[in-house]
Amino acid sequence: MYNILTLNKISHVGLSKLDQTKYAISDNTETPDGILLRSFNMHDYDMPESLLAIGRAGAGVNNIPLDKCTEKGIVVFNTPGANANAVKELVIAALLLSSRNIVGGIDWAKELVSSDTVEKDVEKGKSAFVGPEIAGKTLGVVGLGAIGVLVANAAEALGMNVIGYDPYISIDAAWGLSTNVKRAINRNEIFENCDYITLHVPLTKETEKMVSSVALETMKDGVRIINCSRADLVDADAMKSALDSEKVACYVTDFPNKALLNYKNVISIPHLGASTPESEENCAVMAVREIKEYIERGNITNSVNFPSVQLPKTSQSRITIMHKNIPNMLSQISNEFAKNDLNIDNMMNKSKNDVAYTIVDVDSEVNGNVIESLSKIDGIIRVRLIQ
Ligand SMILES: NC(=O)c1ccc[n+]([C@@H]2O[C@H](COP(=O)([O-])OP(=O)(O)OC[C@H]3O[C@@H](n4cnc5c(N)ncnc54)[C@H](O)[C@@H]3O)[C@@H](O)[C@H]2O)c1
Repeated sequence: MYNILTLNKISHVGLSKLDQTKYAISDNTETPDGILLRSFNMHDYDMPESLLAIGRAGAGVNNIPLDKCTEKGIVVFNTPGANANAVKELVIAALLLSSRNIVGGIDWAKELVSSDTVEKDVEKGKSAFVGPEIAGKTLGVVGLGAIGVLVANAAEALGMNVIGYDPYISIDAAWGLSTNVKRAINRNEIFENCDYITLHVPLTKETEKMVSSVALETMKDGVRIINCSRADLVDADAMKSALDSEKVACYVTDFPNKALLNYKNVISIPHLGASTPESEENCAVMAVREIKEYIERGNITNSVNFPSVQLPKTSQSRITIMHKNIPNMLSQISNEFAKNDLNIDNMMNKSKNDVAYTIVDVDSEVNGNVIESLSKIDGIIRVRLIQ
Protein backbone atom coordinates (compact mmCIF):
# COMPACT_ATOMS: atom_id res chain seq x y z
CA MET A 1 0.00 0.00 0.00
CA TYR A 2 1.32 3.47 -0.87
CA ASN A 3 0.57 6.43 1.40
CA ILE A 4 -0.48 9.71 -0.18
CA LEU A 5 -0.50 12.82 1.99
CA THR A 6 -2.65 15.77 0.92
CA LEU A 7 -1.45 19.13 2.26
CA ASN A 8 -4.29 21.06 0.61
CA LYS A 9 -7.76 20.12 -0.54
CA ILE A 10 -7.29 18.19 -3.79
CA SER A 11 -10.17 17.69 -6.24
CA HIS A 12 -11.84 14.31 -5.72
CA VAL A 13 -11.83 13.85 -9.51
CA GLY A 14 -8.02 13.69 -9.29
CA LEU A 15 -7.89 11.55 -6.14
CA SER A 16 -10.35 9.09 -7.69
CA LYS A 17 -7.62 8.15 -10.18
CA LEU A 18 -5.75 6.46 -7.30
CA ASP A 19 -6.80 2.84 -6.92
CA GLN A 20 -8.00 2.50 -3.30
CA THR A 21 -6.66 -1.04 -3.06
CA LYS A 22 -3.15 0.31 -3.66
CA TYR A 23 -3.25 3.83 -2.19
CA ALA A 24 -4.20 5.17 1.25
CA ILE A 25 -4.99 8.89 1.02
CA SER A 26 -4.85 10.99 4.17
CA ASP A 27 -4.08 14.50 5.39
CA ASN A 28 -1.90 13.40 8.34
CA THR A 29 0.30 10.38 7.57
CA GLU A 30 3.92 10.60 8.79
CA THR A 31 5.28 8.19 6.19
CA PRO A 32 4.01 9.42 2.85
CA ASP A 33 5.29 7.93 -0.43
CA GLY A 34 3.75 10.86 -2.24
CA ILE A 35 2.48 14.32 -1.34
CA LEU A 36 -0.18 16.25 -3.22
CA LEU A 37 -0.56 19.97 -2.59
CA ARG A 38 -1.57 23.27 -4.09
CA SER A 39 -0.19 26.34 -2.30
CA PHE A 40 0.85 24.84 1.10
CA ASN A 41 4.22 26.30 2.11
CA MET A 42 6.66 23.36 2.43
CA HIS A 43 9.76 25.41 3.24
CA ASP A 44 9.68 24.47 6.94
CA TYR A 45 8.44 20.93 6.36
CA ASP A 46 10.72 18.04 7.40
CA MET A 47 10.91 15.74 4.40
CA PRO A 48 10.35 12.17 5.65
CA GLU A 49 12.67 9.41 4.41
CA SER A 50 9.71 7.60 2.87
CA LEU A 51 8.88 10.47 0.52
CA LEU A 52 9.43 9.72 -3.18
CA ALA A 53 7.49 12.44 -4.95
CA ILE A 54 5.60 15.70 -4.53
CA GLY A 55 2.82 16.60 -6.95
CA ARG A 56 1.99 20.30 -7.08
CA ALA A 57 -1.47 20.76 -8.60
CA GLY A 58 -0.61 24.02 -10.35
CA ALA A 59 2.27 25.71 -12.13
CA GLY A 60 4.37 27.75 -9.65
CA VAL A 61 6.63 25.82 -7.25
CA ASN A 62 7.88 28.71 -5.07
CA ASN A 63 6.20 27.02 -2.07
CA ILE A 64 8.45 23.93 -2.36
CA PRO A 65 12.17 23.79 -1.35
CA LEU A 66 13.46 22.39 -4.63
CA ASP A 67 17.16 22.15 -3.72
CA LYS A 68 16.37 20.20 -0.55
CA CYS A 69 14.12 17.85 -2.53
CA THR A 70 16.77 17.27 -5.21
CA GLU A 71 19.44 16.47 -2.57
CA LYS A 72 17.11 13.90 -1.02
CA GLY A 73 16.05 12.39 -4.33
CA ILE A 74 12.46 13.57 -4.09
CA VAL A 75 10.91 14.26 -7.48
CA VAL A 76 8.81 17.42 -7.63
CA PHE A 77 6.13 17.53 -10.31
CA ASN A 78 3.94 20.41 -11.42
CA THR A 79 1.07 20.54 -13.87
CA PRO A 80 2.07 22.92 -16.65
CA GLY A 81 -0.77 23.99 -18.88
CA ALA A 82 -3.52 22.32 -16.82
CA ASN A 83 -4.89 25.69 -15.69
CA ALA A 84 -3.87 27.67 -18.76
CA ASN A 85 -7.37 28.13 -20.16
CA ALA A 86 -8.71 29.32 -16.80
CA VAL A 87 -5.94 31.93 -16.51
CA LYS A 88 -6.36 32.99 -20.16
CA GLU A 89 -10.05 33.71 -19.56
CA LEU A 90 -9.22 35.82 -16.49
CA VAL A 91 -6.59 37.73 -18.47
CA ILE A 92 -9.12 38.54 -21.20
CA ALA A 93 -11.49 39.77 -18.47
CA ALA A 94 -8.60 41.80 -16.99
CA LEU A 95 -7.86 43.39 -20.37
CA LEU A 96 -11.47 44.55 -20.60
CA LEU A 97 -11.55 45.67 -16.95
CA SER A 98 -8.38 47.69 -17.50
CA SER A 99 -9.98 49.44 -20.46
CA ARG A 100 -13.65 50.08 -19.79
CA ASN A 101 -13.74 51.21 -16.14
CA ILE A 102 -16.35 48.55 -15.44
CA VAL A 103 -15.25 48.21 -11.81
CA GLY A 104 -15.50 51.97 -11.16
CA GLY A 105 -18.87 52.07 -12.89
CA ILE A 106 -20.27 49.17 -10.88
CA ASP A 107 -19.07 50.70 -7.60
CA TRP A 108 -20.69 54.04 -8.55
CA ALA A 109 -23.98 52.38 -9.61
CA LYS A 110 -24.22 50.71 -6.17
CA GLU A 111 -24.11 54.14 -4.55
CA LEU A 112 -27.39 54.99 -6.31
CA VAL A 113 -29.28 52.49 -4.17
CA SER A 114 -31.24 55.10 -2.25
CA SER A 115 -32.07 57.21 -5.33
CA ASP A 116 -35.63 57.22 -6.72
CA THR A 117 -34.34 58.17 -10.18
CA VAL A 118 -31.77 55.43 -10.83
CA GLU A 119 -32.48 55.24 -14.59
CA LYS A 120 -31.98 59.00 -15.00
CA ASP A 121 -28.90 59.10 -12.71
CA VAL A 122 -27.23 56.30 -14.64
CA GLU A 123 -27.62 58.09 -17.97
CA LYS A 124 -26.40 61.37 -16.43
CA GLY A 125 -23.36 59.96 -14.67
CA LYS A 126 -22.11 57.25 -17.04
CA SER A 127 -19.81 59.55 -19.01
CA ALA A 128 -17.35 59.44 -16.10
CA PHE A 129 -16.65 55.79 -16.92
CA VAL A 130 -15.85 55.93 -20.63
CA GLY A 131 -12.98 53.66 -21.66
CA PRO A 132 -11.43 52.59 -24.98
CA GLU A 133 -12.16 49.40 -26.92
CA ILE A 134 -9.38 46.86 -27.19
CA ALA A 135 -9.90 46.01 -30.87
CA GLY A 136 -7.25 47.62 -33.06
CA LYS A 137 -4.94 48.29 -30.07
CA THR A 138 -1.56 46.66 -29.56
CA LEU A 139 -1.06 44.04 -26.88
CA GLY A 140 2.39 42.91 -25.78
CA VAL A 141 2.62 39.42 -24.32
CA VAL A 142 5.78 38.77 -22.30
CA GLY A 143 6.27 35.00 -21.98
CA LEU A 144 4.76 32.67 -24.57
CA GLY A 145 4.26 29.47 -22.61
CA ALA A 146 1.04 27.59 -21.94
CA ILE A 147 -0.86 30.72 -20.84
CA GLY A 148 0.86 33.39 -22.95
CA VAL A 149 0.13 31.54 -26.21
CA LEU A 150 -3.57 31.17 -25.39
CA VAL A 151 -3.79 34.85 -24.38
CA ALA A 152 -2.00 35.99 -27.55
CA ASN A 153 -4.29 33.91 -29.78
CA ALA A 154 -7.47 35.00 -27.98
CA ALA A 155 -6.51 38.69 -28.07
CA GLU A 156 -5.71 38.39 -31.75
CA ALA A 157 -9.15 36.84 -32.31
CA LEU A 158 -10.67 39.86 -30.51
CA GLY A 159 -9.08 42.16 -33.09
CA MET A 160 -5.92 43.24 -31.24
CA ASN A 161 -2.49 43.51 -32.83
CA VAL A 162 -0.34 41.19 -30.76
CA ILE A 163 3.42 41.28 -30.23
CA GLY A 164 5.02 38.45 -28.25
CA TYR A 165 8.37 38.12 -26.54
CA ASP A 166 9.92 34.90 -25.27
CA PRO A 167 13.61 34.18 -25.81
CA TYR A 168 13.15 30.60 -24.58
CA ILE A 169 9.93 29.71 -26.40
CA SER A 170 9.39 25.95 -26.71
CA ILE A 171 8.76 24.28 -30.05
CA ASP A 172 5.29 23.19 -28.91
CA ALA A 173 4.38 26.74 -27.88
CA ALA A 174 5.69 28.15 -31.17
CA TRP A 175 3.54 25.65 -33.10
CA GLY A 176 0.48 26.73 -31.10
CA LEU A 177 0.94 30.46 -31.66
CA SER A 178 -1.18 32.26 -34.27
CA THR A 179 0.96 33.25 -37.26
CA ASN A 180 -0.42 36.79 -36.89
CA VAL A 181 1.41 37.30 -33.59
CA LYS A 182 4.52 39.40 -34.26
CA ARG A 183 7.79 38.46 -32.65
CA ALA A 184 9.64 41.02 -30.53
CA ILE A 185 13.39 40.56 -30.42
CA ASN A 186 13.71 42.07 -26.96
CA ARG A 187 11.58 43.14 -24.02
CA ASN A 188 11.99 46.83 -24.80
CA GLU A 189 10.21 46.37 -28.11
CA ILE A 190 7.14 45.32 -26.09
CA PHE A 191 7.52 48.07 -23.51
CA GLU A 192 7.91 50.82 -26.10
CA ASN A 193 5.17 49.88 -28.55
CA CYS A 194 2.20 48.48 -26.70
CA ASP A 195 -1.06 49.95 -25.42
CA TYR A 196 -1.58 46.91 -23.20
CA ILE A 197 1.09 44.66 -21.70
CA THR A 198 0.44 41.30 -20.08
CA LEU A 199 3.05 39.26 -18.18
CA HIS A 200 3.19 35.44 -18.42
CA VAL A 201 6.65 34.54 -17.18
CA PRO A 202 7.78 32.69 -14.05
CA LEU A 203 9.30 34.71 -11.22
CA THR A 204 13.08 34.30 -11.54
CA LYS A 205 16.13 36.45 -10.87
CA GLU A 206 15.90 37.52 -14.52
CA THR A 207 12.20 38.45 -14.41
CA GLU A 208 11.92 39.90 -10.89
CA LYS A 209 10.86 43.57 -11.08
CA MET A 210 11.01 43.44 -14.90
CA VAL A 211 8.44 46.23 -14.76
CA SER A 212 10.88 48.69 -13.17
CA SER A 213 10.93 52.48 -13.14
CA VAL A 214 13.31 52.37 -16.13
CA ALA A 215 10.98 50.04 -18.06
CA LEU A 216 7.93 52.14 -17.16
CA GLU A 217 9.65 55.30 -18.47
CA THR A 218 9.98 53.75 -21.92
CA MET A 219 6.30 52.79 -22.12
CA LYS A 220 3.54 54.65 -23.95
CA ASP A 221 1.61 57.19 -21.88
CA GLY A 222 -1.60 55.63 -20.60
CA VAL A 223 -0.37 52.05 -20.95
CA ARG A 224 -2.47 49.36 -19.26
CA ILE A 225 -0.59 46.54 -17.53
CA ILE A 226 -1.98 43.12 -16.63
CA ASN A 227 -0.09 40.90 -14.22
CA CYS A 228 -1.68 37.52 -13.60
CA SER A 229 1.71 35.86 -13.03
CA ARG A 230 3.43 36.97 -9.82
CA ALA A 231 3.39 40.20 -7.77
CA ASP A 232 7.17 40.67 -7.76
CA LEU A 233 7.45 40.89 -11.54
CA VAL A 234 6.43 44.50 -10.92
CA ASP A 235 8.34 47.01 -8.78
CA ALA A 236 5.49 48.27 -6.57
CA ASP A 237 7.07 51.67 -5.81
CA ALA A 238 7.80 52.31 -9.46
CA MET A 239 4.23 51.31 -10.32
CA LYS A 240 2.86 53.75 -7.71
CA SER A 241 4.82 56.64 -9.28
CA ALA A 242 3.71 55.63 -12.77
CA LEU A 243 0.07 55.52 -11.64
CA ASP A 244 0.45 58.93 -9.95
CA SER A 245 1.82 60.49 -13.13
CA GLU A 246 -0.82 58.66 -15.24
CA LYS A 247 1.93 57.01 -17.27
CA VAL A 248 0.03 53.83 -16.39
CA ALA A 249 -3.74 54.22 -16.85
CA CYS A 250 -4.58 50.98 -15.08
CA TYR A 251 -2.79 48.07 -13.41
CA VAL A 252 -4.72 44.84 -13.03
CA THR A 253 -3.16 42.12 -10.94
CA ASP A 254 -4.18 38.68 -9.76
CA PHE A 255 -1.50 38.93 -7.04
CA PRO A 256 -2.48 41.84 -4.79
CA ASN A 257 -0.04 43.17 -2.22
CA LYS A 258 -0.44 45.75 0.53
CA ALA A 259 1.47 48.44 -1.36
CA LEU A 260 -0.93 48.51 -4.29
CA LEU A 261 -4.16 47.05 -2.91
CA ASN A 262 -6.20 50.24 -2.68
CA TYR A 263 -4.11 52.39 -4.96
CA LYS A 264 -5.73 54.61 -7.57
CA ASN A 265 -6.40 52.78 -10.87
CA VAL A 266 -5.30 49.43 -9.53
CA ILE A 267 -7.67 46.50 -9.88
CA SER A 268 -6.77 43.73 -7.45
CA ILE A 269 -8.18 40.30 -8.14
CA PRO A 270 -7.71 37.86 -5.24
CA HIS A 271 -5.67 35.22 -7.11
CA LEU A 272 -8.62 33.81 -9.07
CA GLY A 273 -6.62 32.84 -12.18
CA ALA A 274 -6.92 29.12 -11.73
CA SER A 275 -10.07 29.19 -9.62
CA THR A 276 -12.41 27.32 -11.89
CA PRO A 277 -13.75 23.84 -11.20
CA GLU A 278 -12.32 22.70 -14.55
CA SER A 279 -8.83 23.94 -13.77
CA GLU A 280 -8.70 22.48 -10.26
CA GLU A 281 -9.83 19.15 -11.66
CA ASN A 282 -7.36 19.25 -14.56
CA CYS A 283 -4.46 20.07 -12.22
CA ALA A 284 -5.39 17.38 -9.71
CA VAL A 285 -5.81 14.71 -12.38
CA MET A 286 -2.46 15.63 -13.95
CA ALA A 287 -0.58 15.75 -10.61
CA VAL A 288 -2.04 12.41 -9.54
CA ARG A 289 -1.13 10.75 -12.88
CA GLU A 290 2.44 12.07 -12.62
CA ILE A 291 3.15 10.81 -9.09
CA LYS A 292 1.33 7.51 -9.73
CA GLU A 293 3.42 6.84 -12.86
CA TYR A 294 6.57 7.64 -10.91
CA ILE A 295 5.69 5.58 -7.83
CA GLU A 296 4.54 2.55 -9.83
CA ARG A 297 6.90 2.60 -12.83
CA GLY A 298 9.61 5.16 -12.08
CA ASN A 299 8.77 7.21 -15.18
CA ILE A 300 9.15 10.99 -14.85
CA THR A 301 7.08 13.55 -16.78
CA ASN A 302 6.84 17.26 -15.92
CA SER A 303 9.31 17.29 -13.05
CA VAL A 304 10.84 20.63 -12.17
CA ASN A 305 13.96 19.13 -10.54
CA PHE A 306 14.65 15.85 -12.39
CA PRO A 307 14.81 15.09 -16.12
CA SER A 308 11.88 13.68 -18.09
CA VAL A 309 12.54 9.95 -18.54
CA GLN A 310 9.94 7.46 -19.76
CA LEU A 311 10.69 3.84 -20.54
CA PRO A 312 7.88 1.30 -21.05
CA LYS A 313 8.31 -1.39 -18.36
CA THR A 314 8.55 -4.71 -20.17
CA SER A 315 10.94 -6.65 -17.89
CA GLN A 316 10.45 -8.28 -14.51
CA SER A 317 12.48 -5.81 -12.42
CA ARG A 318 13.25 -2.13 -12.71
CA ILE A 319 15.94 -0.25 -10.83
CA THR A 320 15.82 3.53 -10.87
CA ILE A 321 18.90 5.49 -9.94
CA MET A 322 19.18 9.18 -9.18
CA HIS A 323 22.70 10.45 -9.33
CA LYS A 324 24.87 13.48 -9.76
CA ASN A 325 25.48 14.55 -13.34
CA ILE A 326 29.22 13.75 -13.27
CA PRO A 327 31.53 11.61 -15.45
CA ASN A 328 31.88 7.85 -15.02
CA MET A 329 28.54 7.23 -13.28
CA LEU A 330 27.03 4.97 -15.96
CA SER A 331 30.10 2.70 -16.17
CA GLN A 332 30.14 2.29 -12.37
CA ILE A 333 26.41 1.52 -12.41
CA SER A 334 26.65 -1.09 -15.18
CA ASN A 335 29.70 -2.65 -13.44
CA GLU A 336 27.54 -3.31 -10.38
CA PHE A 337 24.97 -5.07 -12.55
CA ALA A 338 27.70 -7.20 -14.15
CA LYS A 339 29.20 -8.06 -10.75
CA ASN A 340 25.78 -9.27 -9.59
CA ASP A 341 25.29 -11.30 -12.75
CA LEU A 342 22.30 -9.24 -13.85
CA ASN A 343 21.58 -8.90 -17.55
CA ILE A 344 20.44 -5.38 -18.53
CA ASP A 345 17.40 -5.67 -20.77
CA ASN A 346 16.80 -2.01 -21.37
CA MET A 347 18.26 1.23 -20.03
CA MET A 348 17.67 4.96 -20.30
CA ASN A 349 19.60 7.88 -18.84
CA LYS A 350 18.96 11.61 -18.94
CA SER A 351 20.32 14.60 -17.09
CA LYS A 352 18.96 17.95 -15.96
CA ASN A 353 21.31 20.57 -14.54
CA ASP A 354 23.38 18.90 -11.78
CA VAL A 355 21.43 15.65 -11.57
CA ALA A 356 20.73 12.65 -13.76
CA TYR A 357 18.24 9.81 -13.68
CA THR A 358 18.80 6.30 -14.97
CA ILE A 359 16.22 3.56 -15.42
CA VAL A 360 17.57 0.00 -15.77
CA ASP A 361 15.30 -2.93 -16.61
CA VAL A 362 16.53 -6.47 -15.98
CA ASP A 363 14.88 -9.72 -17.00
CA SER A 364 15.24 -11.47 -13.64
CA GLU A 365 14.50 -10.97 -9.98
CA VAL A 366 16.81 -8.54 -8.20
CA ASN A 367 17.92 -8.94 -4.59
CA GLY A 368 18.67 -6.18 -2.08
CA ASN A 369 22.50 -6.55 -2.38
CA VAL A 370 22.74 -4.78 -5.69
CA ILE A 371 20.56 -1.94 -4.42
CA GLU A 372 22.85 -1.57 -1.41
CA SER A 373 26.06 -1.61 -3.43
CA LEU A 374 24.64 0.85 -5.99
CA SER A 375 23.63 3.19 -3.15
CA LYS A 376 27.25 3.22 -1.91
CA ILE A 377 28.71 4.56 -5.17
CA ASP A 378 29.92 8.12 -4.76
CA GLY A 379 27.48 10.53 -6.42
CA ILE A 380 24.42 8.28 -6.12
CA ILE A 381 21.46 10.13 -4.57
CA ARG A 382 18.79 7.44 -4.38
CA VAL A 383 18.16 3.92 -5.69
CA ARG A 384 14.77 2.23 -5.96
CA LEU A 385 13.74 -1.26 -6.91
CA ILE A 386 10.38 -1.69 -8.64
CA GLN A 387 9.46 -5.39 -9.12
N1 LIG B 1 -2.98 33.67 -11.76
C1 LIG B 1 -2.88 32.39 -11.53
O1 LIG B 1 -3.66 31.79 -10.82
C2 LIG B 1 -1.77 31.61 -12.20
C3 LIG B 1 -1.99 30.27 -12.54
C4 LIG B 1 -0.98 29.60 -13.22
C5 LIG B 1 0.22 30.23 -13.51
N2 LIG B 1 0.40 31.51 -13.14
C6 LIG B 1 1.64 32.22 -13.44
O2 LIG B 1 1.77 32.32 -14.84
C7 LIG B 1 3.11 32.05 -15.22
C8 LIG B 1 3.13 31.46 -16.61
O3 LIG B 1 2.47 30.19 -16.57
P1 LIG B 1 2.53 29.18 -17.80
O4 LIG B 1 1.69 28.00 -17.45
O5 LIG B 1 2.27 29.89 -19.07
O6 LIG B 1 4.07 28.79 -17.73
P2 LIG B 1 5.01 28.22 -18.89
O7 LIG B 1 6.19 27.65 -18.23
O8 LIG B 1 4.22 27.39 -19.82
O9 LIG B 1 5.44 29.55 -19.66
C9 LIG B 1 6.34 30.48 -19.16
C10 LIG B 1 7.06 31.07 -20.36
O10 LIG B 1 7.87 32.15 -19.90
C11 LIG B 1 9.04 32.16 -20.73
N3 LIG B 1 10.08 32.93 -20.09
C12 LIG B 1 10.90 32.59 -19.06
N4 LIG B 1 11.74 33.60 -18.77
C13 LIG B 1 11.43 34.60 -19.64
C14 LIG B 1 11.94 35.90 -19.82
N5 LIG B 1 12.94 36.37 -19.07
N6 LIG B 1 11.39 36.67 -20.79
C15 LIG B 1 10.37 36.22 -21.55
N7 LIG B 1 9.86 34.97 -21.43
C16 LIG B 1 10.38 34.18 -20.48
C17 LIG B 1 9.36 30.68 -20.88
O11 LIG B 1 10.19 30.46 -22.01
C18 LIG B 1 7.98 30.07 -21.05
O12 LIG B 1 7.64 29.95 -22.41
C19 LIG B 1 3.61 31.08 -14.15
O13 LIG B 1 4.99 31.15 -13.98
C20 LIG B 1 2.88 31.53 -12.90
O14 LIG B 1 3.67 32.48 -12.23
C21 LIG B 1 -0.57 32.22 -12.51
